[in-house]
This record gives sequence, structure tokens and C-alpha cells, in this order.
Amino acid sequence: MLSFTMERVLIIGAAGQLGSELTQALVTIYGGDNVIATDIQPQALEKFDYCRTKVLDVMDKEAVKGLVKTENVKQIYHLAAVLSATGEKNPLFAWQLNMDSLLSVLELAREEKLDKIYWPSSIAVFGPNTPKVNTPQYCVKEPNTVYGISKQAGERWCEYYFQKYGVDVRSLRYPGLIGYKSLPGGGTTDYAVDIYHKAIAGEHFVSFLKEDTYLPMMYMPDAIKATLNLMHAPRENVKIRSSYNLAAISFSPKEIFESIKIHYPDFSISYAPDFRQAIADSWPDSIDDSRAREDWGWEHEYSLEKMTEDILKHLPSYSF
Ligand SMILES: NC(=O)c1ccc[n+]([C@@H]2O[C@H](COP(=O)([O-])OP(=O)(O)OC[C@H]3O[C@@H](n4cnc5c(N)ncnc54)[C@H](O)[C@@H]3O)[C@@H](O)[C@H]2O)c1
Repeated sequence: MLSFTMERVLIIGAAGQLGSELTQALVTIYGGDNVIATDIQPQALEKFDYCRTKVLDVMDKEAVKGLVKTENVKQIYHLAAVLSATGEKNPLFAWQLNMDSLLSVLELAREEKLDKIYWPSSIAVFGPNTPKVNTPQYCVKEPNTVYGISKQAGERWCEYYFQKYGVDVRSLRYPGLIGYKSLPGGGTTDYAVDIYHKAIAGEHFVSFLKEDTYLPMMYMPDAIKATLNLMHAPRENVKIRSSYNLAAISFSPKEIFESIKIHYPDFSISYAPDFRQAIADSWPDSIDDSRAREDWGWEHEYSLEKMTEDILKHLPSYSF
């Protein structure tokens, strides 16, 4: 069994879709006294009754620094961001939040000699000129959303801080994340979360993507496993310091619908593509994540069918 030093861990943007589940997993490892879940939304922090919490705006550099110093924080998981669909509605704000917050966290890690930083990237770093099938780790990246541009620039800064200052920053290019424990935060893959809620409520589902739009996706337990495996891998095994390609499953709205219809035969769907179709069309269909598999032993567990079964088993009785 692996053992971990009981270091203080700070999670920024903890109350979102990823943070809600990652915080739980980190508490299991480090203990509730050593994990500080922070977010800009005070009410959203109320669900964390099993660890320490604090309202924190990542843009307030002095507040972040003060917390890191007084609490002797050694690791930061920086999850706060404006996501792809929301970013297109306010591009300059998305750039400001996504970039300034990453740079100030990296700078803090350098100044305070923090042990490790985690910062998620995304398949949004790819663009329309990227090979769409089995997208390689290294290839043309010309993202055309402000979210993708901010993630691509962020990756370059992560590698820069590692090369130049030795900051141990680690990152994954998540595909669309699907979980049932929180509602999604404004991404292009959100439909694949909403569809389960509609099925269980007995409602018709209108997909904002066309029926044959394939996108790389991942069930949240796999995303949490990948994140923790990467963060606990020996430093020398983490050979990519921009961000690792990461993959599990790829499916279309029609395929996820069919996987649900097996359990809910009356469920119905129609398609009304909106502005998110263009974002989805610029992203890969599937991802080659062989470097993650080789360097630190990544393996996904959930297929589409297994994920659907698990969500439909737990979501009806889950309270938010
Ligand atoms: N969810 C996905 O499918 C997905 C896919 C790829 C990458 N990612 C990345 O993972 C990370 C987390 O994504 P998520 O889906 O949990 O997002 P989310 O929108 O659900 O959560 C983000 C959280 O950050 C908080 N936040 C916003 N502004 C803040 C600020 N100024 N200071 C502190 N907190 C602030 C929000 O209140 C929210 O709770 C992001 O970096 C995102 O780009 C997510």
C-alpha cells in the first residue's frame, strides 16, 4: 500500500464539478484537517462538512499567499477556471481569470518552494487543424476558443516554470468529464451530464450537439484516479510538463442516448445544435494517451455502458 506524507493541500475552485469529487478523494488520503477546500462561492462550500473550508478568490493574490503561508500549504490543486462555452460569452474575462490565476499560483509555488502544483488542461487545446482521430500528444494545436487558447498558453507556462525554476507542476488534458455528484459548469460536453438527469426525471432530452458528434469523454471516478496517479507518481516518471493527453471513452449523443434507453425504454431525444456545435467540431473525436499509460501506468476502467449503469444506479437517490 502507498503511503503519503501528510502535507497540507489547498484546493482552489473546490466546489465545482471536478473539485467536489476530487476534494473527497484527497480527504481520504490526507485527512480532513490537512485539506482546505476553497471557492469564491460561500454557499457552495457548505457541502464540505468533512474538511476545512475557506472562501477565497484566486484573483486576490495576497489572500492566496497569506493562506499558503499561515497554513503551511505544500500542494495546490488549482481548479478555478471559466470553461469553454461560458468563456465564449465573455472572452476577455475568461482569459484574465484563467491566465492570471495560473501565473500567480505558479509564481507562488516558485517563491514559497511548494512541493507540487496540479492544474488541469483540456482537449480544448486542440483545434480544427489538429488530427481528429487518435489525436497525438504532439501535433498542430490551433485552438479557436478563448478557453482553448488559455489552456494552451497555460501549458506553456507550466512547462516554463518546471524547466526554468524546477516547480513540480503536473497537468492532464481532460476530455469531457461526466459525473452525477454535481452539475456541470458551462462546458461543451455538459450535455452528457444533463442527459442522465432528464432520463431520470422522465423528460424529453434536447441535445445541443448533433447526433453523430463524437467527443472524448471520461467518467469522473476515472478522472479522479488519473489525477491522483499523476500527482503521486515519482517526479522522474512525470516526463511531460506541459500536459498529458488522457483518454477513456469516445461517444456521440446518439450512443449515450442508446445506452440510457436500455434502462429507460420510453426515454426520447431530439437534436437542436447551437453555438456549442462549432466548438465540438473543432475538437478531436478520440485521443492517443499512450504517454500517460507508459510514463505513470494510466488505465481507465469505465466503458460507456458501465458508466451509464453506475450513474443510473446512484443518481436517483443522490441529493445535491
Ligand atoms: N468539467 C470538464 O469536463 C473539464 C474538462 C477539461 C478540463 N476541465 C478543467 O478542470 C477544472 C475544473 O473544472 P470544473 O468542471 O470543475 O469547473 P466548474 O466550473 O464546475 O468549477 C469551477 C469552480 O471554480 C470556482 N471559481 C470561479 N472563479 C473563481 C475565483 N475567482 N476564485 C476561486 N474560485 C473560483 C467556481 O465557483 C466553481 O466552483 C477547470 O480548470 C477546467 O478547465 C474540466
